[in-house]
Amino acid sequence: MLTVLFLGDIVGEPGRNAVIARLPELKEQHAIDFIIVNGENAAGGRGITGKITIDLLRAGVAVVTTGDHVWDQKDILSFIETEPRLLRPINYPLGAPGNGSIVLETAKGKVGVINVQCRTFMQPILDNPFRAVKTAVAKIREETPNIIVDVHGETTSEKIAMGRFLDGKVSAVLGTHTHVQTADEQILAGGTAFLCDAGMCGPVNSILGRAVEPIMNRFVSNLPASFPVAAGDVRLHGALVKIDEKNGRALRITRVDEPGPAQASAEPEPKIDLEQSSSPEQT
Ligand SMILES: [Fe+2]
Repeated sequence: MLTVLFLGDIVGEPGRNAVIARLPELKEQHAIDFIIVNGENAAGGRGITGKITIDLLRAGVAVVTTGDHVWDQKDILSFIETEPRLLRPINYPLGAPGNGSIVLETAKGKVGVINVQCRTFMQPILDNPFRAVKTAVAKIREETPNIIVDVHGETTSEKIAMGRFLDGKVSAVLGTHTHVQTADEQILAGGTAFLCDAGMCGPVNSILGRAVEPIMNRFVSNLPASFPVAAGDVRLHGALVKIDEKNGRALRITRVDEPGPAQASAEPEPKIDLEQSSSPEQT
């Protein structure tokens, strides 16, 4: 049996410190073979840097996925070409830096990971995610039936459609981007584990991981503002998926909701850039 831990969007320093601190214990406790995290909000809540990617990989993460914020930190355009375990959405136009999928060798055989971005209420609007993922899955299945898909999107409908579309063709389809864990974990009829959104690894007393007041004020005033990452207690959200590695079928999916380490950061992370997206939900 292959046990995969998938963690939702890591938000800022509190999120990444909590993930790095808790991974060794979680790995041992659940006999985890393979760890995937979504890191697109790991750098101050926007994007990811090369250094943060390396820190996560050193902590035991096998693959870091991203989404619409993949390019927000300036070093990542060149770094992603040097680190194949950092994925960007596979449905970027041909020629984009980096890769949207990877196959890694493990003690339990090969494991494939695909990162794909939805289009509804998402910017930028990328190539058709269903067509892109179909091509990638067919190619990876020549090597292994054990495939995990991070579907990064805003709407439940598009992510459920992706789960149904890939049922029986991959081991798990797990959603990211909304930062709110859904309670619809299930194994679909064809043997694919599904969770519409894994949730986030970040501060709980927050709005999607950011400090409450500035975002609340933005909704009230409509004026531009900066949105610092919140402080205080952190929780790690995600899913634990058990897979029969001989055929790639999911045997079990369990939602993960774990506390961060007791010494969670007490100070908010400095945040200087002005909000540029149209709504704070698009973090
Ligand atoms: Fe996102």
